[in-house]
Amino acid sequence: MSKNWWKESARGLPHLVTETPGPVSKKMHANTARYMKGLSEQVTLFPVCFSEGHGIMLKDVDGNRYLDFSSGIYVTSLGHCHPKVSEAIAHWAKKLMNCHDFTTPVKEQLLEKLAAILPGRLTGMQLYSDGTSAVEAGIRAARAITNKQEFLSCFRDFHGKSMAAVSCAQMIRGDVFSYGATRAPGFYMVPRPNPYRPAFAKPDGTIDTDRHIAFYEEFIRESTVGNVAAFVLEPVQGWGGSVFPPDDFFPKLRAFCDRKKILLFSDEVLAGMGRTGEWVTLSHWDTVPDIITFGKSFGNGFPVTAMIVKEEYADSLNKISASSSYGGNPMACAAALASIEVIEEEEILQNVRAVGAVFLRRMEQMKTAHPIIGDVRGKGFLLGIELVKDKRTKEPFNEAGRLVYQKAFRKGLAWIPAGHILRMSPPLIMDEEHAMKGMDLIEEAIAEVEREFGYATVSAGQEE
Ligand SMILES: Cc1ncc(COP(=O)(O)O)c(C=O)c1O
Repeated sequence: MSKNWWKESARGLPHLVTETPGPVSKKMHANTARYMKGLSEQVTLFPVCFSEGHGIMLKDVDGNRYLDFSSGIYVTSLGHCHPKVSEAIAHWAKKLMNCHDFTTPVKEQLLEKLAAILPGRLTGMQLYSDGTSAVEAGIRAARAITNKQEFLSCFRDFHGKSMAAVSCAQMIRGDVFSYGATRAPGFYMVPRPNPYRPAFAKPDGTIDTDRHIAFYEEFIRESTVGNVAAFVLEPVQGWGGSVFPPDDFFPKLRAFCDRKKILLFSDEVLAGMGRTGEWVTLSHWDTVPDIITFGKSFGNGFPVTAMIVKEEYADSLNKISASSSYGGNPMACAAALASIEVIEEEEILQNVRAVGAVFLRRMEQMKTAHPIIGDVRGKGFLLGIELVKDKRTKEPFNEAGRLVYQKAFRKGLAWIPAGHILRMSPPLIMDEEHAMKGMDLIEEAIAEVEREFGYATVSAGQEE
């Protein structure tokens, strides 16, 4: 199959035939919202209803065609309805849908494939159907491996919405304590390195990773009971705003965990499987975790996730009652296997690295030209633009974030910002032409918002 399978449906994107959201979308959303509660802010701020997706194109019920910069929510990374993935799922949908955790031919193939692409003998595997279940299983696995009970995780990381996963995250949700009266016993949060907003800085203002590590050491000594099983963290903070650690952080954290006999658990549900240009995000820093989770891109839209531990720990999975009703069903295995094969056959990692560099250059230019862009960052197709009221004070500009989101969507860009941080997660098949088209729409929206708030957009070279 040609790797240009998506190009025809991408022609002329975006293409709008009504105002957006259009009249049919508005009516359908209003009907649905009578029943469906708890919608995300992305939906409430832009209540469009989608009916079709192909490659990098999303179509709404009014006939408008959008350029996709969201991949669902980091999920359909090979484009909507990749023919190879859809056919693989359909094949098993007609042949065998579920046989619990008995082996099937397609499961055997998937596990062999995973073992071949992953670094560092990450070979003890179990499959699930959502990210949070994989994270929960990783936490149970860490306890079984170490016979220890406590966990460290990082400020503003996200790991899912089941009970141990929320205990590894910020739990404040307005004034209703739906996330529990307290964090689960033994779960603690520590600052993660954010180069734009360093918790610990050197005298010259740049981030000090040694002081982060020293703080973790002190924290374990003073706040825990010395029974820490694992350090659970995202390799790159996704939901929190595409925040990348400095290059020296993970090698230092790996050495620290080894010294303290703590497992390193990399939750790659969002960042893994190609989004940053590597199968495993920690490979950017030559680091291998003890436990890793995959989701989202793993099945390119079919709900399939994985929790994997190093070979030396694999037997511990026998102690955690690891299987589930849907985990590893034949359709799920087929979707994951086909997705991995597509990444290899269509040289997706190479595309992500090449076009990712173009994205980053463009964002750097935008930062110079726009007074409300405080920071830009990215690796591959995991990208972020942080909006601030003032580059010196770095005060977050939430109102601008919301408006930029709505304006760019109205122009035909389907995407997923979060507050004052514009997050972009385009399908990994995207070429430079469409990547720059999407960035044009975002830059136009930023310039409009700047004018509304009375900022003057400056051209390159004029900045102080
Ligand atoms: C890093 C990370 N871990 C876990 C999850 C939870 O995945 P799911 O929504 O499939 O339960 C998410 C979801 O966004 C995530 O970003």
